[in-house]
Amino acid sequence: MASLPIFFLGFLVLGEREEHLGLYEVLGALLEDLSWAQEHPQPCDENPWPGVQCEIGDENPPIFHVTKIHIGPDTRTPPCKSSASLSSSLLKLPYLKNCRSLSITIWCIPLFPIQLSQEKSPQTRQKNKNLRVPNLSQNNLQGKIPREIGGLVRLEQLDLSYNNISGEIPQEIGGLGSLTILDLSWNAQGPIPPDVGQFKRLVLFDQSQNLINGPIPDSLSGLEILDALSLDNNKLNGIVPISLGTLPSLDRLNLSNNQLSGALSLPEDFIERLRKRLDVRGNNGLCAINPFTPLCLNASKATNDTALAGEEEEPNVSERMKPFGQYPVENNSSEMVEITNVSEYEAIAKEKLPKMIYDYYASGAEDQWTLKENESAFSRILFRPRILIDVSKIDLRTTVLGFNISMPIMIAPTAMQKMAHPEGEYATARAASAADTIMTLSSWASSSVEEVASTGPGVRFLQLYVVRAAQGQIPVFLDGGVRRGTDVFKALALGASGIGRPVVFSLAADGEAGVRKVLQMLRDEFELTMALSGCRSLKEITRNHIITEWDRPRIAPRL
Ligand SMILES: Cc1cc2nc3c(=O)[nH]c(=O)nc-3n(C[C@H](O)[C@H](O)[C@H](O)COP(=O)(O)O)c2cc1C
Repeated sequence: MASLPIFFLGFLVLGEREEHLGLYEVLGALLEDLSWAQEHPQPCDENPWPGVQCEIGDENPPIFHVTKIHIGPDTRTPPCKSSASLSSSLLKLPYLKNCRSLSITIWCIPLFPIQLSQEKSPQTRQKNKNLRVPNLSQNNLQGKIPREIGGLVRLEQLDLSYNNISGEIPQEIGGLGSLTILDLSWNAQGPIPPDVGQFKRLVLFDQSQNLINGPIPDSLSGLEILDALSLDNNKLNGIVPISLGTLPSLDRLNLSNNQLSGALSLPEDFIERLRKRLDVRGNNGLCAINPFTPLCLNASKATNDTALAGEEEEPNVSERMKPFGQYPVENNSSEMVEITNVSEYEAIAKEKLPKMIYDYYASGAEDQWTLKENESAFSRILFRPRILIDVSKIDLRTTVLGFNISMPIMIAPTAMQKMAHPEGEYATARAASAADTIMTLSSWASSSVEEVASTGPGVRFLQLYVVRAAQGQIPVFLDGGVRRGTDVFKALALGASGIGRPVVFSLAADGEAGVRKVLQMLRDEFELTMALSGCRSLKEITRNHIITEWDRPRIAPRL
């Protein structure tokens, strides 16, 4: 700076003296030769310094302020010196709007290290309280981030977004003990370094909109105070590491529009915590974890081949997959349309649920032949009504595995009920208790046994797959296609019933009130069937009360 001609400082058409000096210092730290400045003594007049843009401020009399500096191949500025650096005098240029107006292409300098000294005059500090110097966003920076960045030991935030930076993040960034925000979005960077877990102090890490391929490193789980992670719009492949779900502070996770695949096995409590702030849209190979019925984003068979991912109008996948308490729930169940039959809940659930969730609950295997057949098989069983029997008192109670319950209707295990309703298994458990019957909790429930137990007293079974059931040694229960009390009766007449889908649909439609209503309707229908069949207790229901296709015709056809 000593080489600068002193007389420049006499022509303070540009702003204040400090701002004028600041401009010299910034350019002096970057450029090899400042003699060109002598040809343009006034940085902002009608013959301004190349690469310097000024605007007239509000002052009276009006004065100029530097609002943009651009040094690059397209300006007539002299070449950069090999030791070029960004001077802390940038702080003296408060009208550089958040430094976004600073544009220095990499041809000019190895941009780093940015030697920012900490000493600032109180006046400067006050003026520049909003100025964050390491904000180098939108600077058309190219090339790799130099390793020298590790020398910026006090760096707290680094915004290099909207440049053209390529390569990997240098591991030296991990040594920056104060770095809390790293924004590298909208660049052309490559894989995430495996040692990213060393960036211990990061609170916000944004590497979205890059060219990152390869897997998401497990080591990200080392970022213990990370609040927001954005890796969307890259080419990440492989699975979503389950360890991401263990990050204690993570509150926003955007992995949308990548090529991730496999089971999305993030812990339920994590998914519930993030809700809409978890975004996994646009990853066609990703499936929700549930070995019972896999829910894949590219599921097509039962979904009319809708492109489920990546379409703007499609709901966010985190929404679609959300067990997670985001679906509209009727606050007042009286607002529900009058339900007269359990199956009507399906249409309401279809309206309410994201398509993917509905498909998950509604579909069966392959062409869903068995699903349809389960229901129609019941309809082919006919009754033999009995009359002239006093059915004014009907006892529906029964005992299942030693537990006395109000009716032979219990709730079959269905997985992930929080996808249907935010209360999920809690609501079902409460409804089952209110109806004095058993709820069977799925092995893939979205609530734990303990959580369900905490809803209050009630008989609950936990579903486990019994590999070899000794015939006759254990009671057999039937479910599949049970939609009417008459079906319950038929099932009992044949041997022994649980309800599956109607519970999930009513849960989706109206939460606990819906499940209660399903149980009540089935009970009422069953009771009526018993009455019409002349049965006052379950014991009185026999095989003779029904006719099946395979029964021999009792009445010989008349010829
Ligand atoms: C969405 C869904 C999830 C299910 N999850 C389980 C499960 O986790 N464990 C299990 O043993 N059965 C599960 N089932 C089977 C049910 O317990 C029951 O057998 C089935 O729903 C009966 O068929 P239906 O709903 O058509 O009447 C599930 C069924 C559905 C529809």
